[in-house]
Amino acid sequence: MSEVIPFSLKDAPALIERLLPVQKLSAEAYKEQMAGSGKTLTALGSYWKGRKPLVLNKACILGCLLPATKDLRRDLEIFEKLMAMDDESFVVRWPRRPRPREILATLSMAPIRDFFTADRPSLLPETSPVDWTQPQLQSLKVDWREDVGEMERRRIEAQMLRFNETTYRERVEKAQRAEEVADTVHDHIWDGVNAHLGTQARSMTELVEQLGMMRFGRRARVADTFCGSGQIPFEAARLGCDVYASDLNPIACLLTWGALNIVGGGDAAREKLLKDQGALSLNVGTKIDDLGVETDGNGWVPRVFLHCTEVRCPQTGWMVPLLPTRLLSTSRSTIVEMVPDPTNKRYDLLVRSGVNAVELAGAKLGTIGREGKYGESFFSHCVNGTAHKTKISTLRGDYKGSDGTVTNRVRAWEKQDFKPRPDDVFQERLYCVQWMRRKPNGQGYSYEFRSVTEDDLRRESVIEEYLAGHLAEWQGKGWVPDMRIEVGGPPRYQGLDLIRARGWTHWHHVFTPRSLLIGGLIRQAITGNTALGLMALLNCNSKLSRWNAARDCVAETFDNQALNTLFNYASQSFAYGSRYFGDRFRTFPLTSRIALHAGPAIDQRNETDIYITDPPYGDAVKYEEILDFFVAWLRKNPPPEFANWVWDSRRSLAIKGEDEDFRRGMVGAYKQMTECMADNGLQVIMFTHQSGSIWADMANIVWASGLQVTAAWYVVTETDSPLREGSYVKGTVVLVLRKRRGIPKTTRDDLAWEIQEEVEKQVLALTGLNQAAKDLYRAENVFEDADIQMAGYAAALRVLTRYATIDGRDMTSEASRPRIKGEITFVDGLIKFAVDTANQCLVPQGISKSLWDRLSGAERFYLKLTDLESKGLKTLENYQNFAKAFKVREFRALMGSHKANAARLKTAAEFGRTEMSEGSELYTSVLRAVLYGLMELATDTDGNEVIAHLTFNVPNYYSDMTQRQAVVEISDYLAGKLEALRPAEASAARVLRDLVKNQRLG
Ligand SMILES: C[S@@+](CC[C@H](N)C(=O)[O-])C[C@H]1O[C@@H](n2cnc3c(N)ncnc32)[C@H](O)[C@@H]1O
Repeated sequence: MSEVIPFSLKDAPALIERLLPVQKLSAEAYKEQMAGSGKTLTALGSYWKGRKPLVLNKACILGCLLPATKDLRRDLEIFEKLMAMDDESFVVRWPRRPRPREILATLSMAPIRDFFTADRPSLLPETSPVDWTQPQLQSLKVDWREDVGEMERRRIEAQMLRFNETTYRERVEKAQRAEEVADTVHDHIWDGVNAHLGTQARSMTELVEQLGMMRFGRRARVADTFCGSGQIPFEAARLGCDVYASDLNPIACLLTWGALNIVGGGDAAREKLLKDQGALSLNVGTKIDDLGVETDGNGWVPRVFLHCTEVRCPQTGWMVPLLPTRLLSTSRSTIVEMVPDPTNKRYDLLVRSGVNAVELAGAKLGTIGREGKYGESFFSHCVNGTAHKTKISTLRGDYKGSDGTVTNRVRAWEKQDFKPRPDDVFQERLYCVQWMRRKPNGQGYSYEFRSVTEDDLRRESVIEEYLAGHLAEWQGKGWVPDMRIEVGGPPRYQGLDLIRARGWTHWHHVFTPRSLLIGGLIRQAITGNTALGLMALLNCNSKLSRWNAARDCVAETFDNQALNTLFNYASQSFAYGSRYFGDRFRTFPLTSRIALHAGPAIDQRNETDIYITDPPYGDAVKYEEILDFFVAWLRKNPPPEFANWVWDSRRSLAIKGEDEDFRRGMVGAYKQMTECMADNGLQVIMFTHQSGSIWADMANIVWASGLQVTAAWYVVTETDSPLREGSYVKGTVVLVLRKRRGIPKTTRDDLAWEIQEEVEKQVLALTGLNQAAKDLYRAENVFEDADIQMAGYAAALRVLTRYATIDGRDMTSEASRPRIKGEITFVDGLIKFAVDTANQCLVPQGISKSLWDRLSGAERFYLKLTDLESKGLKTLENYQNFAKAFKVREFRALMGSHKANAARLKTAAEFGRTEMSEGSELYTSVLRAVLYGLMELATDTDGNEVIAHLTFNVPNYYSDMTQRQAVVEISDYLAGKLEALRPAEASAARVLRDLVKNQRLG
C-alpha cells in the first residue's frame, strides 16, 4: 500500500482545471434544485434565494483537491465514482435494489453457485435465467454468497437495472440524490480510488484529508467569504475540509450557522437542539394558554386566520371587504359569502363548506378586479342591483407632488401603531378562522373553516389590549421590531409599496397583532438553536403571506422577492406554527474545524488553500434589501451566539450593481483573498450567466486582483421553472483561478498565436476526452459543443490573464482603471480579441474558415445550431450560449421552438418572408437570401424566378464573386445537415446550389 506523502501533489494541476463532467453535473444540480423543501439545508430558511446546489459545490471542492493525471479518462472515471455518478453507485441510489431471485430471473449467469446460495442448495439451478414458477423452486430462498464483494454485487445489479438503456438524465430523475444514501453509496469505490490516487482512504473524509496533505501539507482549508445560506461551507465541512465562512449580512450568517451547527451538529448538539425547542414550545404555549386566545372552549384550536383589508366605498358609504377571491378551500369546497347588512352599510361574511360546483366557481370572483393584466386594481360591489366600481388609486388619493413623484393621502403609521386607526382608508378585518382538533384515535387532525364569531373578536381584542400594554416595552427590549422600513434602490425599490400602499413605515406594521404577540413571545424565549425556527415562522406569518386555497396552507412572504402588499392574507396560530420548533432536520455531523465570521469579505485574514465563492455578481436577488424583514426581529439583544455580529443589513457595505462601485468592491475582496491564498492554492468563482459583458467584467476583476484564469465550465442549475411562463434556463459559470506568479510580459502580436494554440489544444483535449470516454458514457457525450465553447473562452483567458505586462502596460492597473461608459478599454479590446479567436476555432464542419470569418453573428448562430440539430441536440441552453457567444441579440426570432428540451431553429418555410427588413439581424445576409430561395423552391416557384429574387436579395451578387460562392457553400452545407432532419428542404438546398453553380453569367 502506498504512503501518503505531504506535498507530493503540491504543483499538480487540479482535475477541475482539466475536466468537469458538466452534463451529468447539470442533471444532478437540477435534481437537487427541484427537491424543494427536501433539500438538505432548505428547511433552515426557504426564504433564501439562489442557493448553490450542494452537489455542484462538492464537485468544485473535490475538483480542486484531486490531481489531473496523464490519464484523463481514468481521472474522469474516478471523479464520477466519488460523485456517485457511476452505475454501481446508481444501484444504491435506485429506489430499491434488485433481489437475488429477480436477478436470476433476468440475467444469464453460469454457474449460479459462484454468486448465490440457497436454503436448499441442491435445488439451485446451474444457470440462469431461472423460471421460478416451477413448483419445486417457488419457495426457495436465495441469497448472495458472503464472499461476493459489494463491488461485484453492484456490478451485477447494475446490469439487471439496464442503465445502459437510459440517458443519464432519466436515471437521475428516478434515483435518489447521492447525499440521501451517503452512508453506503461509496462503499464499493475505495480500492479503485486508492490505486489511482496513491491514497489509503476508506471514506470521503479520509480521502479529503489525505489529498489535502498531498497538495497543501495539511487538511485543506476552504473559505467562502460570500457564504450566504452556507451551502458552500457546509459541503466543504461535510467533505472533511477545515472551513472559514463569512458574509456581511447577519441573516446569511444565521443561516450558515444553522447549516454548520444544526444540520451539521453531532449527537450532543442535536440533543441540545431538541431540548431548546421543547422548552420554547412549552414556554410560549403556556403563555398563550394563559391568555386564552387559542381555544374555542370545545377542544378545537385555531390553525389559520384569514384577514382582508376593508374600505369605505366613496360612492355608497358601505364598508367593503377587499377580496381578490371568495374561494377559501378547493379540497373542502369552502367559500365565503358576502351577506349585505343595509342597516349598518356593511357585509356579514359567512363561511360555507361543501358548496356545489357552481357556487365554488362563482366564488372565484371577489370584490377586486384589474383593468387588464398589468392594469390598475379596482374594487366593486353591488347595492340594490347597482354596481359601484372604484379604483384603488382613487381610494388612496394618489396625486403627483410638485416634484413629479406620485404620492397619496394614506396616513403614515407611527411606531406605536399595530393596527389601523378608525379613520384610516385601509381597515383590516378577520374574515375566517380555520380550526383543528386532534382525531380521537390520536392520528392526525380534523379541520373546519368557520365564520368569525363574537368570541373570536373578543379573543382578538384580548391580544390587542395585551399588545397596547406591552408594545413599547417589547420594542425597547427588541422582542418585536421597531425598525423603519428603508426603501431599496432600482429596479425594484424594495419596500416602497409597503409605505405607499398601506402607510406602513416600520417593520412591525407588516404583522397582524396576533403574529406580533406570537413572534414577541417566541423572541423572548429564543436561543441560538431556535432563532431559525422563529425566522421560518415569520416568513409564513406576515401580512405579505398569501392564503393558498388550492393547498390549504399559508404561502411564504418571500415566495417572490417583490414584498408587495396583499388585499387578503393569512396568519398562523402558535398551535400550528410551533411545528417550526419540532424535530425537522436530517443531520450530518461535521467533524472538521469551522470558523464563521460576520463581516465584509475584504476583512478576511485567514490563511486559505481553496476559495469557493459565489459573489453577488449580476444577481437578481437583492439580499441586503429583502433581509431587513428578519433583521428587524433580531437586531436588539440577539442570542449570545450571534451577539458579536453587526445586526443591520449593512447595505452600504454590500457589493451590488454592475458599475464602478461593484468592480471596486469585487477587486478589493478578491485581492484580499489572493493575498491570503497559499501560493499553490485554487479559487473557484461561480456566477450566474446573465449579462453579455460578463467575460469582460470578470476578466478585469480577476486581472486586477492578481489572479489567473485556468478553466471555465458551464453548469445548468435550473430549467423550465413552473413558476414562469415559457422556458427558462439558468446556468452557473464556474471559473477556476490561480495566483498569478511573477510578472510575465508579452506583446499583442505574440498573444494572437498563443491564444489560438491554447484554444485549439483545449478543444482537442475535450473532444478527445469525449472519444476516450465512449465506453463510460455509451451514447452520450462528456462535453457538448457549448461546453467546449466555454472551455475555449477559458483557454483564451488563461493565456491573457497569465501576463502581468502586455505591450509594456501594467495589466493590474489597466484592469483597475475606472471605466467610462461606452469606452472600449485596452483590456476590453484584448478580451474581445481573445473571445473572437476562441469563436473562430469552433467553426462547424462543412463551412470554410474564410466563409466563417465573413459571416455575421446571426448567420454563424443559425449555421452552428443547424449543425447541432443535425446531431440530435435540442436543449435551449445551447441556443442561449451560442447566441451569447455570437452576440445575437434576438436569437428567439430565429427559433421555431423555445422549449427547454425541444428547442429548434425556424425552417425556411417558417421564416416565410420575415426577417428580411432592416431591423432583423439577418437583413441582407446571404443566409437569409438562401433560406428565402429554399422557401420558394419548396412552393414550386420557377427556378428562374428564384434566381431573380436571389440576385436581388444578395447584395453585390453580380459584382462580388465571393457572394455567389457563399450562396453555393451555404446551400451545400444546409443540404448535408438537413438531409435527415428535413429531406425536402435539403433537396431544395441542392437544387439552389446547382442553379447558382450552373448559372450563366452574361
Ligand atoms: C450570491 S450570494 C451567495 C449565495 C450562497 N452561495 C448560497 O448558496 O446561498 C452573495 C452573498 O454575498 C454577500 N455580500 C454582499 N456584499 C458583501 C461583502 N462586501 N462582503 C461579504 N459578503 C457580501 C451577500 O450578503 C450574499 O449573501
